[in-house]
Amino acid sequence: MTDIEYNLAQWQELKKDQIKFNKLMNEIFSWRHKGPDYTVLIEKFDLSVLDNNINFGDSHELFSIEDQKTENFSHDVYKKNFIQKATGNKQTEQYLQQRFDLRYVDAPIHEQSPGNYVAPHYDLYGHFMKNCPDYFNTNRLKRYWVCLTKWEIGQSFMLGRSAFTDWTPGDIIEFPWYMPHSTVNLSKSPRRFINVVGLAN
Ligand SMILES: [Fe+2]
Repeated sequence: MTDIEYNLAQWQELKKDQIKFNKLMNEIFSWRHKGPDYTVLIEKFDLSVLDNNINFGDSHELFSIEDQKTENFSHDVYKKNFIQKATGNKQTEQYLQQRFDLRYVDAPIHEQSPGNYVAPHYDLYGHFMKNCPDYFNTNRLKRYWVCLTKWEIGQSFMLGRSAFTDWTPGDIIEFPWYMPHSTVNLSKSPRRFINVVGLAN
């Protein structure tokens, strides 16, 4: 999928209108997507590069402003539906850059608490854009998730029409940048992974 190209200015323009953005992404996924929704890589992530001092200082809401205004999310159960985020360490970023031949990478750690879910969405790459270099282009965008905690029954990553379960720590999946996705943790343990966004060389 290298024929869908948006440079930095075009992407920023595109994501201003959420309705148009979602429509376009639906079209890309429904009509232009070929191949698997995700791939499990054979070689695992080297967990020894991680820094054990992980500080979850950041969190984000999982529903858009539009969603929050609807009846669907008015129940108390959604009031504290946050994903905890921690900045990745330099060693992890260097490892990912070398391993996947990336020119730039952002690799925060996300923790999903029991009972939490993230509704299906397309990524706007808002966090990535904060420090993203101006050579951003969707045809360079690379996406990976690195599993850090052992899979438990009730945990799932859903990508397109597929679901990923039964992982072990260090498993890496790769998926296209436009893939609609959602996650759920219905187990009794927190689920941790590295959310990798990179730009290829
Ligand atoms: Fe996402």
